[in-house]
Amino acid sequence: MRIDNPNVISALPELGIELRGGSALSELTSLGIGGTTDLLRIKKHEGIPDLLNLLDSNGVPHRFLGGGSNLLVADGELPWVVVQLARPEPDVVLEGNFAHVDAAADLGRMVTYCAKNDLGGMEGLIGVPGTVGGALRMNAGAYGMQIGTYVREVKLYRAAARKIEILRGDQISFEYRHTSFAPDDMMLAVTLELPSKPFKEILQGIRICNEKRRSSQPLGQKSAGCIFKNPPGASAGRMIDELGLKGSNVGDARVSDRHANFFVNAGTASAKDMLTLIGQVREKVHASFGVELENEVVFWTV
Ligand code: EPU
Repeated sequence: MRIDNPNVISALPELGIELRGGSALSELTSLGIGGTTDLLRIKKHEGIPDLLNLLDSNGVPHRFLGGGSNLLVADGELPWVVVQLARPEPDVVLEGNFAHVDAAADLGRMVTYCAKNDLGGMEGLIGVPGTVGGALRMNAGAYGMQIGTYVREVKLYRAAARKIEILRGDQISFEYRHTSFAPDDMMLAVTLELPSKPFKEILQGIRICNEKRRSSQPLGQKSAGCIFKNPPGASAGRMIDELGLKGSNVGDARVSDRHANFFVNAGTASAKDMLTLIGQVREKVHASFGVELENEVVFWTV
């Protein structure tokens, strides 16, 4: 979608918004899949309510994009513009055991920065791609930990109330790959309380997690991490593997040979290829195990 309304275009600079016309979402998602639309980059949080009022009152549909690492976006010209936070400098400020982090900060860099300052707890998240905001929204976790455990405060734009609000950690529920945030809430910043640990000790934990991940996940390939959530007490990857589906494909969309719950873009896969493959695998798992797999990856279909 292209913004061609001069009233909207002329109001953007004052709100601290940069317009990047005709952006390819395939370049902004870890799957390397996605069509084209206008991208609005937010440089100051305070401009967000006015920006969204401006878009709504001029009939411009929009979606919020984080780091694009857990997302499957439709092909072609997209029917909405995309709004994304620009990363401020610095994006992490430490104060004792508290880390104040901008939602646009890179998750891995934030974990490393805190580690270098003797703040641990998040070793498992090393190697998880995406932004801190994305990790927060879905309560990202790995190797027995989840980010929600450390959240003390969240600054967010609440679309329903049309304003920026601050929530305490205990006002938010964090479950397995799920939180109580509304789908159209936009994460802006978070305060984490992290346990003190010597850097050397944290580094050891990071190395172990890195090694486990390298040996079991297709890290160098374009993917969105695990496609399906694990059903209670079971592993989606193991079920798909047991059905002999590793390596099966629709065009360049392929079930990873390394981890069967990772679907990779092995070349120029389209969203249609990927959705077809996901549907086929889900049906086969249902037919054999009687389990309806739930998506972990978010779909932006049209
Ligand atoms: N397994 C297979 N074949 C496979 C994949 C896995 O037999 O192709 C078996 C493994 O051998 C193991 C079991 O299934 O016995 C579980 O596998 P793994 O340890 O890789 O964990 P997972 O349940 O598949 C979860 C998370 C990952 C996270 C890892 C490590 C989900 C859906 N997946 O994977 O998170 O990195 O544990 O903590 O919760 C993600 O969220 O995108 C993600 C990748």
